[in-house]
Amino acid sequence: MEKQTFEWKRMAIGVNRARPVNTNMAADDDTELGEELDGTETSREDAERRTIEIDLLLEGIYRMYGFDYRHYSRPSIQRRILHRASMDKFATITALTERVLHDPAVLARLLDDFSIKVTEMFRDPEFFLALRRHVLPELRHLPEIRIWHAGCSTGEEAYSMSILLHEEGLLHKAKLYATDMNERAVAQAREGKLLLKRMQGFTRNYMQAGGRAEFSQYYTTDFQYARLRPQVLEPIVFAQHNLATDRSFNEFHLILCRNVMIYFDPTLQNRVHELFHESLGAHGFLCLGSKESLGNMPVREKYEDIAAAERIYRLRPRPRE
Ligand SMILES: C[S@@+](CC[C@H](N)C(=O)[O-])C[C@H]1O[C@@H](n2cnc3c(N)ncnc32)[C@H](O)[C@@H]1O
Repeated sequence: MEKQTFEWKRMAIGVNRARPVNTNMAADDDTELGEELDGTETSREDAERRTIEIDLLLEGIYRMYGFDYRHYSRPSIQRRILHRASMDKFATITALTERVLHDPAVLARLLDDFSIKVTEMFRDPEFFLALRRHVLPELRHLPEIRIWHAGCSTGEEAYSMSILLHEEGLLHKAKLYATDMNERAVAQAREGKLLLKRMQGFTRNYMQAGGRAEFSQYYTTDFQYARLRPQVLEPIVFAQHNLATDRSFNEFHLILCRNVMIYFDPTLQNRVHELFHESLGAHGFLCLGSKESLGNMPVREKYEDIAAAERIYRLRPRPRE
């Protein structure tokens, strides 16, 4: 292909331009993509072509590999596809689709782009404070406490929960399940290894979350890393699980799914809420991220607010209970 034609096609899919793509992005998106890409099409025809190409790519991924991204929020997924096309120097999204269908390594890179892994220990400290005050006292009487962190990324939220339960004297009877669709994130989570330079911010969060000890007692350090102590890690089972395609695997007293459904369209959000509703035991708690809520979801009436600002809900008694 002549260089000029190639350039023209790259411009047509917008992979050469460098203006922000849209205003409909979550904050987490912006922190991970190194490069801004333009989603503005040059014509209606370009826009239509791009929609068709993205539909075909997502359909291909689903039918070939079983990963279902057809119901992710379009602006976010489009931005990531354009980013991958640009990075791997594909002239069109169709060319990317062709490689994805034939080369799992290209798929793996794209799936990693789809997964926005931004997370912190004690992220939104006031949420963890609310857990301490309003949720854990309600779980104290249980013989076993089962907790599911859905979309746990690299594990920081589950580590925080383990520390919280320890400080509330509940860790010995707790079982934490932390899942994510991204295998690499799950593998990293299992290691319990964090960059040392992140620990200062985590310490601040921990204190704001009502931490009762010296945060540094929960890890050891070497030159570059903080390594969580076994007592923090051992109660957590990390596993791969895809909320879009996999089923429930237990009954839980508390489910946390924070900063995950923000990337789903309403159809997928509803489906995942059904999954959580099925997976919660009587009077179970559900926690969402600070930018998410039950809003107008069909399951809304099944829950009462426990701490509305912190997005903590509790299942109302089911009929006949
Ligand atoms: C921004 S992180 C949130 C991490 C953590 N919950 C927090 O709030 O700090 C979003 C995570 O959701 C995961 N995710 C996205 N779609 C998913 C799906 N269908 N099933 C399971 N995890 C998913 C991504 O891989 C990513 O690790």
